[in-house]
Amino acid sequence: MTKGLYIKTYGCQMNVYDSARMADLLAPLGYGDVVRPEAADLIILNTCHIREKASEKVFSELGRLRHFKEQAAADGRRMLLAVAGCVAQAEGEEIVRRAPQVDLVFGPQTYHRLPEMVARATEHGERGLVDTDFPVDSKFDFLPEEHLGDEAAAFLSIQEGCDKFCTFCVVPYTRGAEFSRPVAAVVAEAEKLVARGVCELTLLGQNVNAYHGEGPDGRTWGLGRLLRRLAEIEGLERLRYTTSHPRDVDAELIAAHRDEPKIMPFLHLPVQSGSDRILEAMNRKHTADFYYRVVDQLREARPDLALSSDFIVGFPGERDEDFAATLRLVTDIGFTQAYSFKYSPRPGTPASEISDQVPPEVASERLSILQNLLNEQQIAFNQGCVGRRLPVLLERPGKYEGQLIGRSPYMASVVVEAPSRLMGKLVDVDIQSAHANSLSGTVVTRAPEESPSPEPAGRTPATETRATA
Ligand code: SAH
Ligand code: SF4
Ligand code: F3S
Repeated sequence: MTKGLYIKTYGCQMNVYDSARMADLLAPLGYGDVVRPEAADLIILNTCHIREKASEKVFSELGRLRHFKEQAAADGRRMLLAVAGCVAQAEGEEIVRRAPQVDLVFGPQTYHRLPEMVARATEHGERGLVDTDFPVDSKFDFLPEEHLGDEAAAFLSIQEGCDKFCTFCVVPYTRGAEFSRPVAAVVAEAEKLVARGVCELTLLGQNVNAYHGEGPDGRTWGLGRLLRRLAEIEGLERLRYTTSHPRDVDAELIAAHRDEPKIMPFLHLPVQSGSDRILEAMNRKHTADFYYRVVDQLREARPDLALSSDFIVGFPGERDEDFAATLRLVTDIGFTQAYSFKYSPRPGTPASEISDQVPPEVASERLSILQNLLNEQQIAFNQGCVGRRLPVLLERPGKYEGQLIGRSPYMASVVVEAPSRLMGKLVDVDIQSAHANSLSGTVVTRAPEESPSPEPAGRTPATETRATA
């Protein structure tokens, strides 16, 4: 008998990847995706702890889900409620205390034990199970080889955790120490995905370019070398990776951008601030000048490289002149898109103990000034694409009938009118207009195989994804 699974995903792409793997793990137990949480036998909230708002959302969502659970019980059906991800890791038992309707709590490094936990809950009626270990064995050794799904672009986790300890950030505590998967395991997973029709891979890691996996030659491979190896896979057309740290951009990675056309000319390289004083207080371990030099080298290797970044405004002690330095950096570098956030003090992090907190209204004003500047740059970049012919991988249906949406090499969403058989295909598009967050244009080439193919069966994705963290 099939059972309904509903996964709601918050936070970063690593969580999106983890949610998909949870679905893979549960499929052999008879769980299939359902579109509405009311119809589910198991609901998983895969959570994010990065800012206060993100983690508080989870508790309000749990309140809403409690009613569904009560309704299910009234209908004689047991609905399991699980909290996974970084809030689970950070709060553990506290979640069950605050929300006793929760049956399972497990962290990002223990979700491979999900089938066992679900069995304990369903067969033995256990409740309030909490598993937030950092096991010695990597979860990757226990995940099923098969991925479900039929998408053309897929995520592949190659690295996890973080040893950087930026003073504002919870990730080193929620995801644990840095760990890199061996090259052979990454290549095998990539080959499986490509065999299934994936033509764009995004390699994931909290600190993806700190990757240092064991190579087949027994040596340690960096990300540059791994990317070159993956680029050899026939049928794989595009490679991306996220998120990088400026300190870990090495010569090998820069050279890979120069030599390997499958590596897309887009890089998300968070800088957080343009002020050396603040960068130091953040423990970023680099200066603004260091960031300029890294970007110069990357652009020398790949002149059309588009850059994206993350910024925090209102970090404790940030003065007007520090914020001005951030605006200067943005103006000098030029970003094609970026995420910017108001500093949010997180329990247990060193920055939350600093007494010199910036008043919220000052932080809000700085955020809106920064976002205006970043938006202007994004719009200018998008407008610069008008009149160009860009390869676009068509990935999903558009808002209106007959539309498909894909991504340009530079990550912008591109909307086209196209038959659904072009879904999953890489096509050339003449870009005709630019909007704030997307481009639109006309498909000029057909994918090589012109014979009509049946519509992909596909599963209905029940996973809801919030904006990138
Ligand atoms: N590993 C990545 C991203 C980590 S989290 C990196 O090193 O850059 C994603 C982004 O959230 C960060 O880049 C940062 O801009 C933001 N962020 C993290 N902690 C935050 C906090 N306490 N308050 C506000 N923004 C935060
Ligand atoms: Fe957090 Fe990124 Fe800093 Fe690691 S490098 S502590 S993940 S912001
Ligand atoms: Fe959020 Fe955890 Fe990712 S805190 S940003 S889901 S690593």
